[in-house]
Amino acid sequence: MTLPAADHLVIFGITGDLAKKMTFPSLYNLEKRGILTTPILGVAFDDWTLDQLSDYAHTSIETVEGSVDKKTFDSLIARFSYVHGDFKDPTLYSTLAEKLAGSKSATFYLEIPPGLFVDVAKQLAAAKLLEGNARVVFEKPFGTSLSSAEALNNELHAIMREEQIFRIDHYMGKQPVQDIIYARFANTLLQKVWNGEDVECILITMAEDFGVADRGSFYDAVGTMRDVVQNHLMQVIALVGMEAPVDTLTQPRIDLFETIPSVDPESVVRGQYDGYLDVKGVAADSTTETFVALKLQIDSIRWGGVPVYIRAGKEMPVTATEVVVRLKGQTGVFLGKERMGKLYEDIILRIGADSGVSMTMQVKAPEDDSVEPVRLDVSFKSSLGYVPLPYETLLSDAMAGNGSLFPDQQTEVETWRIVQPILDKPQPVHGYKPGTWGPQKAHDMVEHHGGWPEPTCPDVPGK
Ligand code: BG6
Repeated sequence: MTLPAADHLVIFGITGDLAKKMTFPSLYNLEKRGILTTPILGVAFDDWTLDQLSDYAHTSIETVEGSVDKKTFDSLIARFSYVHGDFKDPTLYSTLAEKLAGSKSATFYLEIPPGLFVDVAKQLAAAKLLEGNARVVFEKPFGTSLSSAEALNNELHAIMREEQIFRIDHYMGKQPVQDIIYARFANTLLQKVWNGEDVECILITMAEDFGVADRGSFYDAVGTMRDVVQNHLMQVIALVGMEAPVDTLTQPRIDLFETIPSVDPESVVRGQYDGYLDVKGVAADSTTETFVALKLQIDSIRWGGVPVYIRAGKEMPVTATEVVVRLKGQTGVFLGKERMGKLYEDIILRIGADSGVSMTMQVKAPEDDSVEPVRLDVSFKSSLGYVPLPYETLLSDAMAGNGSLFPDQQTEVETWRIVQPILDKPQPVHGYKPGTWGPQKAHDMVEHHGGWPEPTCPDVPGK
């Protein structure tokens, strides 16, 4: 889906936490790179002056970027105006309509609670602000279950065309995530082995070495499955498994999801770290998971049922996100005088902060004739230099009208369909100690494939 470039950017929730952490630093970098071209209108409930908003933006950028270039900051702020009001009040939208008079392709970015998505979209439509090529960018989460995501799709389609809907998944804005496609298809070595015949299994880890902190009440209603698996990790699986995209990612992604059966609840392990129940906002008897491990399989011609294991959790030993494509490797053949045992080879796509690619390579052990694995590591930070922030990419794509990185309606339905049985039949939750890799059962599930690899972060000393 493509639309013409936007003529305005309107941000609902500009005084919020996400704006502080992500939006202002991303806009600042876009300004610095000369990519911003439109006026920006901030909208929020707070009765702030433009000076107050400017101070807020300055603090945000300084915190994330470390310093603020005055010229860039001044030209960014010169684009801004600010309107405050109640998102449910029609007079707010009359004010917006006046400010946007003549606009044919505004981008409305809703970084607001999801419960307000439909209300705001309806008000925008009623004020005739969604005509032409206007588009609306929705923050996550998009629904909380298969039926609620379908209902949300239907409600939005009653107001606007699918091509006007941009659903954000910030993982798709990450360069190392987008790089999965390039690593796979632009490298003969990887392309040749990327199939069910050569691959033993795919192991995806998303580990965070911190807990839910001050997000207790949000997290307790959500859990790891909804927070990061249905969205971020399913998008990663799409890129790992899909056929080569020719134009946009949209259709190859849907085609891949359609070959993944819904998860069998028996192939799921849920965990909760000790101490979670003491977090502010968490119910005293909560059974919400802070860790999940599960097995999926891809039944496409390319993959022929290869298993995909996911583990994601809070309070893990490290913070690291990686995809390990484990090759079947050599088994039981003679090399020199030695018969080799089962030798797995791992291709590791590191898609977290320490992004890059690693591979295990079997070499001769120095002391005898046996085989020993060593690691080849490439760090994107040292090899590629500046990498745009996820929201830089996503906001500029939405403004440019390029929807390829944004999950479409069917992708939402498919990803919820795949995880829904886990939500319908939650497995018992097992406790685990902070700083460990979750319940033992999560280890047992991949033991026969050589076990979970320990994520290593070559760029982060000591990890
Ligand atoms: C968010 C989740 O969507 O993604 C958080 O709500 C999680 O719980 C975060 O920590 C992880 O994002 P990143 O970019 O830090 O890997």
